[in-house]
Amino acid sequence: MRAAGSSASVAGPQPNQHVLRISPYTPGESKADGQERVIKLSSNENPLGPSARAIEAYRRAADQMAIYPDGNASSLRGAIAHVKEISPDQIIFGAGSDEIISLLCMAFCEPGDEVIHTVHGFSMYRISALAAGAEPVAVPETDLTTDVGAILRAVTDRTKLVFIANPNNPTGTYIDAATVEGLARGLPPHVLLVLDGAYAEYMRMDDYDDGLRLVDRLPNVIVTHTFSKIHGLAALRVGWGYAPPVVVDAYNRVRGPFNLSIPAQMAAEAAIRDTAYVRACAIQNEVWRDWLTKELSAAQIEVPPSFANFILPRFGQNGSVSAASADAFLRSRGIIARRMEGYGLPDHLRISIGSSSDCIAVAAALREFVGGARE
Ligand SMILES: Cc1ncc(COP(=O)(O)O)c(C=O)c1O
Repeated sequence: MRAAGSSASVAGPQPNQHVLRISPYTPGESKADGQERVIKLSSNENPLGPSARAIEAYRRAADQMAIYPDGNASSLRGAIAHVKEISPDQIIFGAGSDEIISLLCMAFCEPGDEVIHTVHGFSMYRISALAAGAEPVAVPETDLTTDVGAILRAVTDRTKLVFIANPNNPTGTYIDAATVEGLARGLPPHVLLVLDGAYAEYMRMDDYDDGLRLVDRLPNVIVTHTFSKIHGLAALRVGWGYAPPVVVDAYNRVRGPFNLSIPAQMAAEAAIRDTAYVRACAIQNEVWRDWLTKELSAAQIEVPPSFANFILPRFGQNGSVSAASADAFLRSRGIIARRMEGYGLPDHLRISIGSSSDCIAVAAALREFVGGARE
């Protein structure tokens, strides 16, 4: 043993080299300088909040805080199985779908393995791959849309996971059910396809499917969902997945035994059972997303079609109509959007679809911004 104070002890504990490659996740901001009240449109939350039944269930949970939660989340599991018509035994849970993404990387990757995601895919795919010692592989998109051919060409013997958000965050685009199935069938058997359905409940297109039925038919597909978006429970951290038995088994070996709190389980169960509320939220989102898209397009702002609960307007990179100046202008009006440099989209802002009054405020502010910039 070396004497205390020797050079070996000066360096101190060192994290893994692959952990040091991670740039920590940047959450959507919730404050704007000088603004007391803000309209937060930076994290794709539900502006209508959760179902009243979920709030009531959360309050009921206050009586049970001294006891550990059901580590199997049996009641919530049964509710999801019933509403989605899937097998309860193949459901997994995470503290948000973030935890599921992270634990899948931990359970399936060894150092040097590869994890594929699309170039403008959700940033937790890269972070989770690096944390597991794996190599993230960013595959190009076509017109901001997942390119299945490019993904299949990027697969190697070391590929373990492919993450696709469908519809995707932050692009808002989607690939149809037949294309998803083509991807799943085109992958070699050692590759697990993760279909991230964080925004699936917003989809109202006939050719779309979140992939739950595919899990029943193919051995290498998992679908994830979250209670943070349309269910309005982001604060409670509940995500779930539907997976083949081999994935369920591996996942349950690495997860914490009590990773969903009692209030989270009770509120989530009430939320998923309130299917009428979910439908109403999807319709509200579609109406105001389309309205905002039309308003901004009329103001000569390019808005690629989005199928989720946000839009991705494109500004210039420099000068008076840049994304940075649009963001600063919105902030001066108390509106917080999300800058997209970190996603390789420096010309764009991502703006969540808020309440009707939020959308009206965004349209008015951006009309004013564009008008002022062109004078
Ligand atoms: C595509 C996608 N997947 C997963 C998540 C994680 O959501 P949560 O951990 O709140 O379930 C998000 C959150 O923004 C997302 O956009």
